[in-house]
Amino acid sequence: MSDSKHSGERVELPAAARSGTVCTASDYDGMYARSLDDSDSFWAEQAQRIDWVAEPTKVADWSFDPVAISWFTGGTLNICHNAVDRHVAAGNGARTALIFEPDDPDGTVRKISYAKLQRDVITMANTLKKMGVSKGDRVTIYMPMVPEGAMAMLACARIGAVHSVIFGGFSPEAIAGRIVDCRSDWVITADEGRRGGKPIALKKNVDEALDKVPNRGVLVFRNTGCPVTMVEGRDHWFHELSQDVPDDCPCEPMAAEDPLFILYTSGSTGKPKGVLHTTGGYAVWTETTFRFVFDYRENEVFWCTADIGWVTGHSYIVYGPLLNGATALMFEGVPNWPDHDRFWQVIDKHQVNIFYTAPTAIRALMREGNDHVTRHDLSSLRLLGSVGEPINPEAWRWYHDTVGKGAIPIVDTWWQTETGGVMITTLPGAHDMKPGSAGKPFFGICPQLVDGEGAVLEGEAEGNLCITRSWPGQARTLYGDHDRFVQTYFSTYPGKYFTGDGCRRDDDGYYWITGRVDDVINVSGHRMGTAEVESALVLHPKVSEAAVVGFPHDIKGQGIYCYVTLNAGEEAGDALTAELRQWVRKEIGPIATPDELHFTPALPKTRSGKIMRRILRKIAENEFASLGDISTLADPAVVEALVAGRKAR
Ligand code: WTA
Repeated sequence: MSDSKHSGERVELPAAARSGTVCTASDYDGMYARSLDDSDSFWAEQAQRIDWVAEPTKVADWSFDPVAISWFTGGTLNICHNAVDRHVAAGNGARTALIFEPDDPDGTVRKISYAKLQRDVITMANTLKKMGVSKGDRVTIYMPMVPEGAMAMLACARIGAVHSVIFGGFSPEAIAGRIVDCRSDWVITADEGRRGGKPIALKKNVDEALDKVPNRGVLVFRNTGCPVTMVEGRDHWFHELSQDVPDDCPCEPMAAEDPLFILYTSGSTGKPKGVLHTTGGYAVWTETTFRFVFDYRENEVFWCTADIGWVTGHSYIVYGPLLNGATALMFEGVPNWPDHDRFWQVIDKHQVNIFYTAPTAIRALMREGNDHVTRHDLSSLRLLGSVGEPINPEAWRWYHDTVGKGAIPIVDTWWQTETGGVMITTLPGAHDMKPGSAGKPFFGICPQLVDGEGAVLEGEAEGNLCITRSWPGQARTLYGDHDRFVQTYFSTYPGKYFTGDGCRRDDDGYYWITGRVDDVINVSGHRMGTAEVESALVLHPKVSEAAVVGFPHDIKGQGIYCYVTLNAGEEAGDALTAELRQWVRKEIGPIATPDELHFTPALPKTRSGKIMRRILRKIAENEFASLGDISTLADPAVVEALVAGRKAR
């Protein structure tokens, strides 16, 4: 272990991790160089691990100015065939594809083999067809974390329908907005979900959403058996509609660039963006990243704790593991129910080998003390992973020492909804680790740091993180709004993909993500646009104006801090605070619940009326000494009042 101010603490890879690995240190250097210098042949080789109906005729075909991205042109494939059928055809039908661990520790574990998964996906695909779904249709999936959620995605992919999964923590308003945006005529949901012992009224939320937007059909799974309202002609129970469907369903051959899914994510402005991923590139990217980053070995149990409603669940619960014929664990519950040892108990119970979670969970569990961990046998673990936000070195240490017993590697994987899969990480058999640094670029990834004016920064530097070349798993557009895609990602630094993240590169070439530099905040690893929360707040009849910023939060990473100005005559107080919190939950969902509501008679604005967010951020962070120049404010006294208000909280 060495210490250096500039390059960070270095934690050497344990010797055991270096043997039998898919990629050693010297492999990495050569392969990384080849992935850039001879990119087409590198990716053509990776693409060989996919079954193509027709082989691609061209590997990469892209430009960032103008923006047009295609990979594996001329190729046709079906990702469901690749994730499911081909493993059965290869004689691996008996292998476990999914292990389901229910919310209730005493509930029923399900182990679903690849052969069973194939049968179930076929039934579901045929049921979707029977309901009327056809190729190219957008299908909204609002499901609990049960295997049927993954099957619903695969069934859509099988018939060429485009899935749009919505996380169960979003409200009816949010569902309706997403349905309208991608003109989705179909919904797949369940009566009810369960998390941490509490019910989640999925069907009821869908019903409220569909009061606002018309829909052709809703397929409903019976999960908890709670009573629900079924609308005649629109709603179908899966167990009824699936009766008598045929037991075969050919996989629809899709062009490499045919859409696979839309996933809504937050940006710095306006409504959520429908990030669109296509079939061929995403398949190659998730297959390849899963294989190298997690160094998966046959018969191992891989557990990613994300929800399938987020990109992490798409790429590393469903597609990446299944494309590799792996066994993936799907967990319905939460880390701290019924007790704070739930994760560790599940690892022990299912002999998990690779565990991939988020810093917010690590921090929350760290706080509960080591006994929760040490009373379980975690010796099955071979590799740990982190994703979603920067991991602070203290949490990294605890994860490494207490969970990993100091003996196994951690991969800190930086990526985004838009990148489809992991972009920057150490590889578990190749690189020493540095707590707090994601590490090195994955194959084919060309990170670049630029300053505010776009000047390229070389060597050891800190700046805005761009990616200069396309990679197979890159999002191709925002659904129905290519201009916004270009504007959001390619206009700040023309010719480059701008990630929205700040980043430092040290003298060892390791990358350290410093967090978002735009108006996106990261709350418990969930991306939230401050503009979205502001729009929700100002819809309330008593609110005149709102400005929302992030502030450091011990567990969540960032919390949601809302400055609110009320209409004349309205009273601030605890009752209104509670009402506004509830209001935001209704408009967006529980995941957007404000942590702090700071009522203020006025917001700091420039003379031209622009809200000075920089100042609001500093005040929320309790950084009063570094407010910077406030002389350009229309009314500098506003700042004093805000500071006093913050100190009084
Ligand atoms: C942040 C999640 C630091 C980052 C896969 C990024 C991270 C945003 C890391 C994307 C990491 C994700 N270290 N920051 N290992 N992983 N982020 O779209 O700010 O939900 O831009 O994708 O999360 O969030 P998204």
